[in-house]
Amino acid sequence: MRQVLLLLLLSFPCWAASEQIHYSIPEEMAKGSIVGNLAKDLGLNAKELAKRNLHAVSVDEMKYFSTSAENGNLYVNDRIDRERICGKNPLCFVNFEVVIDNPLNIFHITVSIQDINDNAPQFLSGNISLETSELTLTGTRFLLGKAEDPDIGMNSLQNYQLSPNPYFTLEVKESQDGNKFAGLVLQTTLDRESEQTLHLVLAALDGGKPRKTGTAQIWINVTDANDNPPIFTQEVYQVSLRENTPVGSLVLQIVASDKDEGTNALIMYHFSNIPAKAQQIFSLDPANGKITLLESLNFEEDKEYSMTVAAKDGGGLVTHCKVDVQVIDENDNAPEVTLISLFSPVLEDSLPGTLIALINVNDKDTGDNGKVTCYLQDDLPFKILPSSNNYYKLLTDSALDRERAPEYNITVTAIDKGIPPLSTHKTISLQISDINDNAPTFERSSYSIYVPENNPSGASIFSMKASDPDVDQNARITYSILNSNIEELPISSYISINSETGTLYAQRSFDYEQFREFQLQVKAQDAGSPPLSSNVTVRVFILDRNDNSPRILSPSQEAKGSALFEMVPRSAEADYLVTKVVAVDADSGHNAWLSYHLIQATEPALFTVGSHTGEIRTARAFVERDAVKQKLVVVVKDNGQPPLSATTTLNLVFAENFQEALPEMKNQPSSSDYQSDLQFYLVLALAVMSFLFLLTVILAIMTKLRHSGNPQFLQCFGPVPHSKAGAVFPPNFEDGTLPYSYQLCLSSESRKNEFSFLTPNVQISDNILSGEKSSVPFTSNEGNNLHPEIDNTPKGPD
Ligand SMILES: *[C@@H]1O[C@H](CO)[C@@H](O)[C@H](O)[C@H]1NC(C)=O
Ligand SMILES: *[C@@H]1O[C@H](CO)[C@@H](O)[C@H](O)[C@H]1NC(C)=O
Repeated sequence: MRQVLLLLLLSFPCWAASEQIHYSIPEEMAKGSIVGNLAKDLGLNAKELAKRNLHAVSVDEMKYFSTSAENGNLYVNDRIDRERICGKNPLCFVNFEVVIDNPLNIFHITVSIQDINDNAPQFLSGNISLETSELTLTGTRFLLGKAEDPDIGMNSLQNYQLSPNPYFTLEVKESQDGNKFAGLVLQTTLDRESEQTLHLVLAALDGGKPRKTGTAQIWINVTDANDNPPIFTQEVYQVSLRENTPVGSLVLQIVASDKDEGTNALIMYHFSNIPAKAQQIFSLDPANGKITLLESLNFEEDKEYSMTVAAKDGGGLVTHCKVDVQVIDENDNAPEVTLISLFSPVLEDSLPGTLIALINVNDKDTGDNGKVTCYLQDDLPFKILPSSNNYYKLLTDSALDRERAPEYNITVTAIDKGIPPLSTHKTISLQISDINDNAPTFERSSYSIYVPENNPSGASIFSMKASDPDVDQNARITYSILNSNIEELPISSYISINSETGTLYAQRSFDYEQFREFQLQVKAQDAGSPPLSSNVTVRVFILDRNDNSPRILSPSQEAKGSALFEMVPRSAEADYLVTKVVAVDADSGHNAWLSYHLIQATEPALFTVGSHTGEIRTARAFVERDAVKQKLVVVVKDNGQPPLSATTTLNLVFAENFQEALPEMKNQPSSSDYQSDLQFYLVLALAVMSFLFLLTVILAIMTKLRHSGNPQFLQCFGPVPHSKAGAVFPPNFEDGTLPYSYQLCLSSESRKNEFSFLTPNVQISDNILSGEKSSVPFTSNEGNNLHPEIDNTPKGPD
């Protein structure tokens, strides 16, 4: 090859200037390659050549070439790099001179260096990084720079090529100095979101044969532009919340996404359009879109909320969505019970059905939660009836009685139909006003008052009380005594009453021996209108006091202690009934229980006194040494407290007959002769009268016996059949402890001493009769029960 080129070059010896020799060689010939044969081109033969000393003289240029003195060849001595020697100059010559001596001759030699394609185009940097926003407009140019190829001509850079891609085309521009620059032109819009980094390969081509290329890697980084607005997962969010959702609960989370990156994808949420009310209730977390409850919901205020939420990315793009919150009613409102009007107090005689109150019931909830029914809780005489439009009437249901229940707490319960139901209690306090429907009543149905006799006049003897369950005037009681008479005298002269207090006062001193009992009617009347009253029977029993001493009836008190003598037969045996001391006591009961005691005697051992009977009997037979005249002092004591007593003196004469006794009686020592005489005559007269009376009686009895043959006088000794005895003896006295009846009979039997009983007989029977009359109440059962101390059943004191 080199041989061929050499031959070609050798065929171009430049003979135009005889001393000028021209060679042309390609660059980068191997060292030692023959450029030409100078000897031949100079016309020198080998012999001449050796003599004439051929050598090159241009020192600088001579490092590329060397000459051979033997054969005159010009050799390549060093690497010949055209690009180094001549750069971009298209004509490249190396000039030097060759000198030969004998004769000296100078030859100018020019070696023309031809270019070969020994350099490939080369980019300054094999990696080109570009950064561009995805929003870059189409048509935008990106200058990439150029590649360089030091070769010249066709061997230098001819063109560029770009790897195929959808976005860019290659644009090559040639500057005035012939440099070719490559550029990119954006053909279609970029989208970071679909392709973030583009990789292109740019190739630079020269025109050599073979052609050489150089490449550069182009890295295009598509930067994000905020070209994507946030997008909500839903356009409208709808949520239903129960009314009782607790504060702080999450309502919902709205989510928006943004395809951008970085701050362009950083979404912040906010309410863009929200009613003021809703703003207080809902809070929106700007970072995560969580909507929470700030305040409790109230269905009764707002049933739904509609608001707009905006999502804004860091680049400022905003998207809106709608949030609808629907509130679901809960039964959270108890019914409200309002008392519209109340008619209190209500009269206790109000008829059933009387309107008491008007009530309004309201429930704010809806549906069943707002449906209310009303009822009364307790079992009270009231009823509640629905009126119109949530109104209820409270009516009386039965008769009222203030005295039983002066007030009512009526509890109205209103309950709705929610689940669970809510209820409200409303207590209505109702007063019942009084009607004078109660008469005063006494504590007892009747009263028995026991007043000891001899009470001071004006003393309070009893206090009675009536009560009236009504109030105020209707219960203000005044007491009065109903008019009546007691034994012709008005009752007011016996007893009076304090009209305010009901205290009874005796108007006089009572005497049990005068009357033992009376009764009166006391009236209690209230001050109502009309007034009501009631009356009660009050029985006043006068109680006996021992205010009467025993009164000795026999022996007669007129002949006290001296005048009277009793004759005792000398032959009287022991236990001979000498006489009987008879005494009465006007008092009754214990106060009239009498006892007899011998307190003084001439011969105490000779006589005994029956302490209950008053009988004086001989204790033994009379003996001669006993005094003929005996004097006995007998005291009669009652059983009262303190006991009262009376004494009597008996003069006894032991004699066989009256005549024998008379002198003894005369000898009776007396205080005065006159009195003694008087007594004597008196006794004598009495004795005569007694005798005549006895005679008459005996005659009468004998006459009667003769007529009927019926020994009627015997009845005295047997038990007295009181049912047939008529008014003679009250049954109380039948046992004979009291001396009267016994004495009467005795007198008829003994036929002695009857004179001493003549007068008393009448008195006794009077006494008995009056006693019987006044003791009627005591003989009744009631009397005995009420006052057992007045017990006339004879019982001797022991
Ligand atoms: C009604 O209620 C009042 C106040 O609570 C109470 O003082 C009164 O005793 C009650 N009356 C009745 C009859 O329960
Ligand atoms: C006393 O009360 C009775 C009924 O208890 C009555 O019948 C009578 O009329 C009353 N007397 C007077 C004077 O009010």
